[in-house]
Amino acid sequence: MNKRVDTTRLQEMARAYTASAVLYTALDVGLFTHVSNGSNTETALVEETGLRPVDVDRLVSCALSLELLDWDGDHLVNTLDVEAYLVEGKARYAGAWMMFTRPDVGGWFGMTEKMRIPDSSKLGMYQELTVESARKYHRATASIGFGAARRFVKTVDLSTRRHLLDLGGGSGAYSITAVEHFKELRATVLDLPPVVIATQEYIADAGVQDRVETLGADFTVGEFPSPVDVVVMASNLPIYDGEIIGGVVSRAFRALEPGGEMHLIGEMLNDNRKGPVDAAMWGMNELICGSEGRAHTRAECQKYFASAGFVDIEVIDFVPGILARCVGRKP
Ligand SMILES: C[S@@+](CC[C@H](N)C(=O)[O-])C[C@H]1O[C@@H](n2cnc3c(N)ncnc32)[C@H](O)[C@@H]1O
Repeated sequence: MNKRVDTTRLQEMARAYTASAVLYTALDVGLFTHVSNGSNTETALVEETGLRPVDVDRLVSCALSLELLDWDGDHLVNTLDVEAYLVEGKARYAGAWMMFTRPDVGGWFGMTEKMRIPDSSKLGMYQELTVESARKYHRATASIGFGAARRFVKTVDLSTRRHLLDLGGGSGAYSITAVEHFKELRATVLDLPPVVIATQEYIADAGVQDRVETLGADFTVGEFPSPVDVVVMASNLPIYDGEIIGGVVSRAFRALEPGGEMHLIGEMLNDNRKGPVDAAMWGMNELICGSEGRAHTRAECQKYFASAGFVDIEVIDFVPGILARCVGRKP
């Protein structure tokens, strides 16, 4: 018997942008922070936000329907992830990351034009970075990167390692967290010259200047500092095409001591390319940001490692549905 089809899924997709817009506005007006701080009725929210009652009514209906808010008796509460990550002032606040791609909204809706009249450079959005824009960028990445880095040190034992090279290390989240966790480890964060000024500020804040150094360089060219016994490259996979990523992995292999390991952490597609959606979308994001990058499959990442000479190659879920980790060892 034929499965009945209807338009529900397609209609939801056609209007999926409405959910992003509601999330941005809720963050703009501090909805979740107010609710967490006790302004948990619509009357109190009208007073706190200065918005019209009808708009608070609309926003609360949307937030309840999107499971951002819930009812506890007659007052509103944040749902669990919202309370953990979207309340300003809390340690795990990740609002900066949620808002990070908002300036790209216009670009996404101009996608057809961008495909018809392509305009790209090797570094894409990183071509024009300044120290100030790098600081702003990494306020957003740090709000999520340190959590990912904590997950990394809990799942990967680096206790026998001595020197970590962190390619495109940004805020230094992985290096800082790793040296805090593994007392014998030192680290070098390699990132573009304007970025490492911001990196140094994170390193100083964490008080690990004696164990984490920075190197301002473009990882798509030149040899890497050597010898090192661990290389990490996290969250920059879709920025580049296969040739560049393959080249980075090969140069990382050359920089490693025998027995050393490399971890490539990123949004990776399943081998049949049917998801995760987020990985495919980060690939498309490179059209919007103007690089030649695209989403890579798990099998492609394994191939970059194998071609470089790595053995014991595996791809493991890192943050399921979002990030995977490809690991290999230099014989
Ligand atoms: C999304 S951030 C990830 C930062 C960090 N690895 C993390 O996971 O929190 C990507 C980083 O890669 C850096 N990057 C991109 N292309 C680069 C290149 N060609 N050379 C050096 N760094 C690069 C960017 O400057 C940025 O800091």
